[in-house]
Amino acid sequence: QASLPKGYVLRPLQSGDYERGFLDVLKVLTEVGDHTKAQWLERFNYLKQHSHEYFTIVIVEEAKNKVVAAGSVIVERKFVHLNGLVGHIEDIAVDANQQGKKFGIKIIEALKYIGENTGCYKVILDCSEKNIPFYEKCGFSHKEYEMVWRP
Ligand code: ACO
Repeated sequence: QASLPKGYVLRPLQSGDYERGFLDVLKVLTEVGDHTKAQWLERFNYLKQHSHEYFTIVIVEEAKNKVVAAGSVIVERKFVHLNGLVGHIEDIAVDANQQGKKFGIKIIEALKYIGENTGCYKVILDCSEKNIPFYEKCGFSHKEYEMVWRP
């Protein structure tokens, strides 16, 4: 896999990413909300306490000290497949001005690596039809359908 362009680093989410615009990057996905620092830390600290199951990674542009891309994999513990593990990829987001520069594929490659190395027998995700070609380039193939129910 090719490395990132010079001046960009891929690393786990840090609490200071609140100031580095992590939540702004997520706005390409959906409504995010206007978190106070306390609300951010409430969620961040939960994820940190469950860091064997929740893995959120970011790509940071060092010169600007800004998050440009992000993604997560959550490791689910099952009974089937003899206590098997399944990785769920969620919330893949690349800043609107930085799309098409291979940051998305780098995030997915890193999350697949985490999934494989935590012992997942598969890694799955839901996406829109429009993003199918992107995930096919990342090595995923189509299987089944997403269903949703909202209370
Ligand atoms: N249609 C066809 N090909 C695509 C598309 C697309 N919509 N998006 C990317 N590709 C291709 C690229 O051309 C590239 O191909 P190449 O290697 O042959 O040149 C390859 O996929 C990798 O593209 P990247 O540059 O890594 O894509 P990018 O950094 O823009 O990330 C992403 C893709 C994550 C979809 C980004 O555009 C984005 O944030 N979009 C808005 C939010 C979104 O839809 N996120 C995914 C939600 S699904 C989920 O979270 C599980």
